[in-house]
Amino acid sequence: MANVAVIGAQWGDEGKGKVVDWLASRADVVVRFQGGHNAGHTLVVGNETYKLSLLPSGLVREKLGIIGNGVVIDPEALLAEIDKVTAQGLRVSPATLRIAENAALILPFHGALDRAREAARGDQKIGTTGRGIGPAYEDKVARRAIRVADLAEPETLSLKLDELLRHHNTLLASLGAETFDKAVLLAWLLALAPRILPYAEPLWIRLDELRRAGKRILFEGAQAVMLDVDHGTYPYVTSSNTVAATAASGAGMGPGAIGFVLGIAKSYSTRVGSGPFPTELHDATGQLLGDRGNEYGTNTGRRRRCGWFDAVLVRQAVKVAGINGLALTKLDVLDGLSELKVCTGYRIDGALHHHLPAAPRAQEAASPEYEVLEGWKGSTRGARSWGELPAQAIKYVRRIEELVEAPVTLLSTSPERDDTILVRDPFEG
Ligand code: GDP
Ligand code: IMO
Ligand code: MG
Repeated sequence: MANVAVIGAQWGDEGKGKVVDWLASRADVVVRFQGGHNAGHTLVVGNETYKLSLLPSGLVREKLGIIGNGVVIDPEALLAEIDKVTAQGLRVSPATLRIAENAALILPFHGALDRAREAARGDQKIGTTGRGIGPAYEDKVARRAIRVADLAEPETLSLKLDELLRHHNTLLASLGAETFDKAVLLAWLLALAPRILPYAEPLWIRLDELRRAGKRILFEGAQAVMLDVDHGTYPYVTSSNTVAATAASGAGMGPGAIGFVLGIAKSYSTRVGSGPFPTELHDATGQLLGDRGNEYGTNTGRRRRCGWFDAVLVRQAVKVAGINGLALTKLDVLDGLSELKVCTGYRIDGALHHHLPAAPRAQEAASPEYEVLEGWKGSTRGARSWGELPAQAIKYVRRIEELVEAPVTLLSTSPERDDTILVRDPFEG
């Protein structure tokens, strides 16, 4: 038996939430280990749709949810999300949700700085979610962040706010944005503290106990490998490491705790925000994929950019993140297309490449070389076994497996929880 880490293998929104929800029935606990409420995970269970940002998707299955130290937590957003899902009938309490006491907080000036910087970048903007993720991680690495445990120490909060505001108010003023008042922020934090602290604990102790008791741990990644701050299309990335290795450091466990790494990939490609996207389609097919796939950001409502499946990038993600198996989602969106293209290399200044180089101009210049595959006539929508898939759809899946050098472990054929085909149980290793 292995623990399982679920991570995105493209640019996010691959369907991690659906897959985590589905796998959570086989797990004892679900752990978020990086990112923050920039994530948007949609779960469809019968007539109910849950949209989660910060809360681990396992809560829908009433599994213990854990927010690890690698996550940046906006305390107000967390409480609002707890209220929202509670109104939908889920039970969230300190008995079902635990938060690392050493996780860093996202504060109001982080979002303000994120948005002011994006505005100042103009055409060069990253297209962030504007939720303060980057500035919060910057403060963590700069050793001035306020962390969950600090909420219990008013003097610590006061001292840290002095340093934080010296930094942030200077930056905000230079960008022509409004500055923040210490007394107001301190009062705000002290008012939030009694609502957050009951969830906080030294998580590593609990995780160590769970592990020794043989409990199954499901690590839920946010964003994706191509948004990883090291391995993604830098600087058009998020501010955390999204690869599976982060599950260990972002939860407080050793690397051996991770087990099976399940990479989630759409059967085509999408991206929200700016940045290189070699297989992007600006034609009617791109439009069709977006319409059929309902490609609108869960948080932002922004239309996602769409394109063909990029086997070069997913193969790269398989390698850098150590993906053991792939969950291929949204196969149904390709139903009825007469031909499908899969990117197998890039032409950059005349030369053929089989990876995406790191230099920004090379990334922008990468022009895809395609392999063309025949489409299928029948429907894959809602299929729950291989037998229900048209032969050509199976061929498409098999070709992807070859190109990305990873086996398909799971297939998803609609947003609905149970419209899933299991090839191999990742918890069995
Ligand atoms: P995440 O961020 O990786 O969790 O993905 P999102 O939830 O942001 O976006 C994925 C979207 O695709 C959601 O609206 C899901 O309900 C939907 N979805 C997931 N799997 C499938 C699938 O196999 N087919 C279709 N048509 N939709 C899916
Ligand atoms: P899930 O978990 C897709 C993108 C933003 C932007 C870049 C940086 O739902 O897959 P940030 O606010 O993180 O500083 O923005 O990353 N981005 C996502 N795109 N899915 C996500 O999460 C994303 N989280 C951030 O659009 O391009
Ligand atoms: Mg999403």
